[in-house]
Amino acid sequence: MKIAILGFGSVGRGIARIVAERETGLVITAVADSKSGCIDNNGLNPLEVIRAKEETGLCGKKGVTPEYIIKNADYDALVEVTPTNAETGEPSLGFIKLALSTGKHVVTSNKGPVALNYDELSHIAREKEVQFKYEATVCGAIPIIQTLQYGLAGNKVKKLYGVFNGTCNYILTRMADERLTYKQALLEARELGYAEADPKYDVEGIDAAIKLVILANTIFGMKKRLEDVEITGICSLTSEAIELAEADELTIRLIGEIDNERGTLRVSPRVIPKDHTLVVQDTLNAVTIETDLAGEVTLIGRGAGSIETASAIISDLSFISNCHDRSS
Ligand SMILES: NC(=O)c1ccc[n+]([C@@H]2O[C@H](COP(=O)([O-])OP(=O)(O)OC[C@H]3O[C@@H](n4cnc5c(N)ncnc54)[C@H](OP(=O)(O)O)[C@@H]3O)[C@@H](O)[C@H]2O)c1
Repeated sequence: MKIAILGFGSVGRGIARIVAERETGLVITAVADSKSGCIDNNGLNPLEVIRAKEETGLCGKKGVTPEYIIKNADYDALVEVTPTNAETGEPSLGFIKLALSTGKHVVTSNKGPVALNYDELSHIAREKEVQFKYEATVCGAIPIIQTLQYGLAGNKVKKLYGVFNGTCNYILTRMADERLTYKQALLEARELGYAEADPKYDVEGIDAAIKLVILANTIFGMKKRLEDVEITGICSLTSEAIELAEADELTIRLIGEIDNERGTLRVSPRVIPKDHTLVVQDTLNAVTIETDLAGEVTLIGRGAGSIETASAIISDLSFISNCHDRSS
């Protein structure tokens, strides 16, 4: 299957590396970053495009834009991995709509368009009889969407809760283990590249809330916006609060929860026993799904990272490729 990749940063290059290193059945015919692009309908050499990007900052020629690629390259699926804009979803939203409208499958790791416009995008996909997949938008490498859509099909999900943000989890782990203050732990997370220069989305609980909105709307058929989520971040959490919890064999985690029976979404720091399944360390994510037939199912894994996030994208592409093979 031929793919075009929009966005050649951490995730885009992770995908190209996997395609170069193993037999995926995927051929990359086009790549774009913010300033350039390249097309070879017979297949680009992924390692050469990575080298060009790393040496020159450009993946191809100036003037070869995402729109040009979407309209003119030969590909079956668009892989949309440009930065997230949680307010408007753009420019990713426009790229995805254009590709779906011209009958291409789309796979994305971009939370903005999925949280804001899932109904519209999935409607276009159905009309055009193509797939719109977004596994990488929630919990990186953890196959949470596939588990909910297929693995637990036939179950009623009563509640779903867990650790959706690795940066916050890292900060809380370090505050508890090393007695660091919030500011010291945040600084360390920044130095290690886990936190952005502006960590607002992570530490204020917004990133976790966006992931809840994606699950609520796309899996549980709710019609939620970010404003509907009750959000408390970790910014005002003190070392004393954590020490107090630790003295009683408890600890604090930022937990996102969807109560599917009440229809509510909440993100807040919660005190939980230190031996609880959701007390994962460092940047890990963990999600417990409470169901009527299967009981509790918990998934733990890496919520971010170049190759880890690319793993979810490759999984979505494999799904599409298998459907494609069956129908042809
Ligand atoms: N990294 C992770 O672990 C992770 C995990 C889950 C989800 N995600 C999501 O996946 C997406 C990509 O993340 P990332 O970490 O790969 O980001 P990144 O390293 O910042 O890379 C973003 C890429 O998009 C390109 N870009 C920016 N604006 C563009 C435009 N208008 N048209 C075409 N390309 C454009 C950038 O171009 P330049 O190279 O020219 O700047 C860059 O190559 C984001 O939406 C992120 O939220 C990431």
